Amino acid sequence: MTQSADTHAQVSIPSKEDGSMPSHVAIICDGNGRWAKQRGLPRLEGHRRGMEALRKTIQAASELGIPYLSIFAFSSENWRRPVQEVSDLMGLLRLFVRRDLNDLHKRNVRVKIIGERVGLESEILSDLIKTEELTKDNTGLTLLIAFNYGGRQELVAATQAIAQDVVAGKLKVEDINLADIEQRLYTAGIPDPDIVIRTSGEQRISNFLTWQTVYSEFLFLPVFWPDFDGEALNVAIEEYGRRERRFGGL
Ligand code: FPP
Repeated sequence: MTQSADTHAQVSIPSKEDGSMPSHVAIICDGNGRWAKQRGLPRLEGHRRGMEALRKTIQAASELGIPYLSIFAFSSENWRRPVQEVSDLMGLLRLFVRRDLNDLHKRNVRVKIIGERVGLESEILSDLIKTEELTKDNTGLTLLIAFNYGGRQELVAATQAIAQDVVAGKLKVEDINLADIEQRLYTAGIPDPDIVIRTSGEQRISNFLTWQTVYSEFLFLPVFWPDFDGEALNVAIEEYGRRERRFGGL
């Protein structure tokens, strides 16, 4: 962490050089519904405002030079919600990838969708593929949108892929190692999250990046997601800079 030139200043600036700037920030965007309820608004309005918060956060992460930002937009378990809400969330995702695609591309953002593709409507799927295709060579922020994503489901898929390789004679059971699993996750080649932020005050991981978060720092914030923005991201990163990480060592 570099101190600001003014010795009296309280603000310290996270920097890549000393490791106080995370490589990967993952966010569980929670509390859209409660934000709306507090204001007597429909839940959809909370999700719409959540999308605004998402835009602000992506812009801030991109400007800060954070390499990877993961967003939990729709979990494998969110299908349990009422049909109308599921449809609203699908609609918002489509709106987001369509309306924001050019802007994200201009910002040099590379978009990657993680999660199961089976079960998604073909129109959504083709929008998602188009987004990934257009932005795949961008070199700025990599935005991982977890959609129809579950960490346990991801591990099942990786296990199936390993089993297939064993059956095909490409891999020996006794040789299976950590890298074999990592390479078969949606996040293959992407560093694990340094910090996981969850808004709304709830304190759990809810099947998000199950394998990848074993050494992540957790930050649970008492704000609903629609109230999150670039400033909140800065505060979270400052807090991250104060954490001491030992990865099981001393
Ligand atoms: C949690 O709030 C939020 C979600 C289930 C969806 C996340 C939505 C966004 C990030 C905005 C929309 C953007 C896209 C790309 C779909 P909640 O509904 O669980 O809130 P509650 O716990 O207060 O009810």
